[in-house]
Amino acid sequence: MFAESQRPLNVGFIGGGSGFITNAHQRAIFMDGTRRVTAAALSSNPSKAMELAGEWPYPIKGYESYQVMIEAESALPEGGRIDYVVIMTPNDAHYEPSKAFLEAGIPVMCEKPLTLTVAEAESLRDLVTRTNIPFRVAHTYLGHWTSQLARYIVRSGKLGCIRWVDASYLNSSIAIKSRKPGFPETLWRLNPEKSGLSNCGGDIGTHALMQLRYVTGLEVEELSAHLETYVPVGDDPAKRLDDHFTAYCRLSGGANGLVRASQISIGHKNDMRLEVVGESGSIRWSQEDSEKLIVNLLEESERVYWRGGFYDEDDFLGDMPDELKSSTAVPWGHAEGLNDAFARLHRAFEGDVRAYRNGNYEGADGAKGATVADGVAGLRFVEAAVESNRNGNAWVKV
Ligand SMILES: NC(=O)c1ccc[n+]([C@@H]2O[C@H](COP(=O)([O-])OP(=O)(O)OC[C@H]3O[C@@H](n4cnc5c(N)ncnc54)[C@H](O)[C@@H]3O)[C@@H](O)[C@H]2O)c1
Repeated sequence: MFAESQRPLNVGFIGGGSGFITNAHQRAIFMDGTRRVTAAALSSNPSKAMELAGEWPYPIKGYESYQVMIEAESALPEGGRIDYVVIMTPNDAHYEPSKAFLEAGIPVMCEKPLTLTVAEAESLRDLVTRTNIPFRVAHTYLGHWTSQLARYIVRSGKLGCIRWVDASYLNSSIAIKSRKPGFPETLWRLNPEKSGLSNCGGDIGTHALMQLRYVTGLEVEELSAHLETYVPVGDDPAKRLDDHFTAYCRLSGGANGLVRASQISIGHKNDMRLEVVGESGSIRWSQEDSEKLIVNLLEESERVYWRGGFYDEDDFLGDMPDELKSSTAVPWGHAEGLNDAFARLHRAFEGDVRAYRNGNYEGADGAKGATVADGVAGLRFVEAAVESNRNGNAWVKV
């Protein structure tokens, strides 16, 4: 068998019904051969959970619930039990399972938004701080190599002082789903008890916010927000969650910015964009063309950095750290994509989990993915936006 240091990490799955997010995590876990899915509680319905585990394309241990999984896996010897768990349930089922796995000493990667409320998110942050158990929020798009390159360019001051940031995530999901039978009852994202205070802002606005914060290092200090509902979902105002979200933000360091999200923007698929404008240059990035980073410096020709491996000593990126240079998944000219972005998150988390098992884990590195503190920042942003919207778009401190 494997030496302990070589054995692949065992990963547990919780939830993941849509297939999309389960498959993306599963591919990412397998991509390096150093991690594998070994156990799963795939549904809130116990018999469905066992059925789905039985249909998995290779043998895994099926569990009726995450509670049964924790009990059974905790009783197994190291090497046989799960080394970390990925939580892919609707938003209302992030907090309790995350807390339970952490309390059992099991590292967690949890889907976004971290929880339903700031109070829950802060309680998880306190637990992570107290126990020093690895924890990540699965903000996918930080895993693109170009996101990491953009972070390097902005944070090393190559654009000068940042003036303006425009972060947006536009899609047409609610416009499309509103034409399907069962709408809106079958869509948990439009149910405040399952989704949280905001649908669109929490679901994809937090991705745009995270991209802004990750690349620039700036924080939203104050905001004025509009949360709008364009697709009719019934008469009860308490049940009307937004499908269109706009927040004008005052950022740290004197910059301003927009964080926008929309699920009614017909024609947009997963159109997430980031534009950062500094006093001497700007960068532009788009998720749908995720291997390209466009850089403009005043009085210089536009530079388009594309698919890695392009820098040389004379380029203004000549001082790029070796770790960033070597982290592209494929040689230049070949295509990376969403699965590689997810894999980069799991690769970094594997490092955290192995360090934790070896007793030398020093806490999450925010350069390699979203931390529990980033999850708290997402919830604070959403709560402030909801408060602003309720109060006539008043400016609210975050
Ligand atoms: N990072 C990303 O890019 C990304 C993309 C899509 C979805 N997500 C997130 O993933 C989460 C799930 O979204 P989805 O669209 O896949 O939802 P979904 O409704 O398609 O699937 C959720 C599954 O979780 C199961 N479930 C609910 N409670 C459970 C429990 N206690 N134990 C076990 N299983 C349980 C449900 O039965 C369902 O099968 C959400 O938080 C969403 O925000 C993230």
